[in-house]
Amino acid sequence: MSNIQDKVVIITGVSSGIGESTAKELASKGAKLVMAARREERLIKLQEEIQMNGGQAIYKVTDVSSHEQMEELANYALKEFGKIDVMINNAGVMPLSSVHERKINEWDTMIDVNVKGVLYGIAAVLPSMRERKEGHIIIVSSVAGHLVFPSSSVYSGTKFAVRAITEGLRQEECNNNIRTTIICPGSVATELTDHISNSELKASIKEQSEIAIDPANIARAIAFAIEQPSDVAINELIIRPTIQQL
Ligand SMILES: NC(=O)c1ccc[n+]([C@@H]2O[C@H](COP(=O)([O-])OP(=O)(O)OC[C@H]3O[C@@H](n4cnc5c(N)ncnc54)[C@H](OP(=O)(O)O)[C@@H]3O)[C@@H](O)[C@H]2O)c1
Repeated sequence: MSNIQDKVVIITGVSSGIGESTAKELASKGAKLVMAARREERLIKLQEEIQMNGGQAIYKVTDVSSHEQMEELANYALKEFGKIDVMINNAGVMPLSSVHERKINEWDTMIDVNVKGVLYGIAAVLPSMRERKEGHIIIVSSVAGHLVFPSSSVYSGTKFAVRAITEGLRQEECNNNIRTTIICPGSVATELTDHISNSELKASIKEQSEIAIDPANIARAIAFAIEQPSDVAINELIIRPTIQQL
């Protein structure tokens, strides 16, 4: 039996890309999923597909930048399934731009979703995991959490931040048998670049994304981290297209 079978897994950002692929991968391995994103029509479609293939999935429309909604999401998982084994903080946005463009609203959104959303996710599940002395918190950072390039200043800042937060959490909670995993994808074929508002930059980033790998590859890496025995923690994984230099 897989070590994923019957684990209760919350995943944010399941309405496309890496989150959607991860939901399908984990459902196929017997996880009980609690899926979150804002676009309900996509959540319904994904739930139907998973259930048609024999998987278990419920969903809650959730904006990760709301502390209240993240608490409600965790409470929903506890009410429906009685425990939370794994929290995957995957939701993220990447409206790249140069600092001089002063896209203050986009900076705010990146900080709200990529940093505060992750913190709210951790806060929502930590009390019940500490009580059970068992749990696994996964965050999706990025290679941009290891390096910076022009236009990635703020995005990289958010991804560096969540790596630091997760490493601190690891040190604080390892004695409570709570595992942490930082997933750092390189270029992955998803909708992430759609929201870049500078059209020239968007075209250039889309061109660079031709090497992007399928999100199913990241989903398998996440499943690998979850399926380890409970005394083994995969703390960080970097997954790039072979051809990607930086
Ligand atoms: N694709 C890449 O090359 C790449 C590389 C490195 C890291 N990553 C990271 O991977 C993660 C997933 O991104 P992706 O590539 O799969 O992009 P994506 O296809 O654009 O998916 C992003 C997901 O985040 C959700 N989301 C955005 N804002 C949200 C909010 N306020 N509340 C709840 N959900 C929200 C979206 O759902 P709704 O809009 O329906 O809410 C969507 O499901 C992100 O953290 C991203 O930074 C991606």
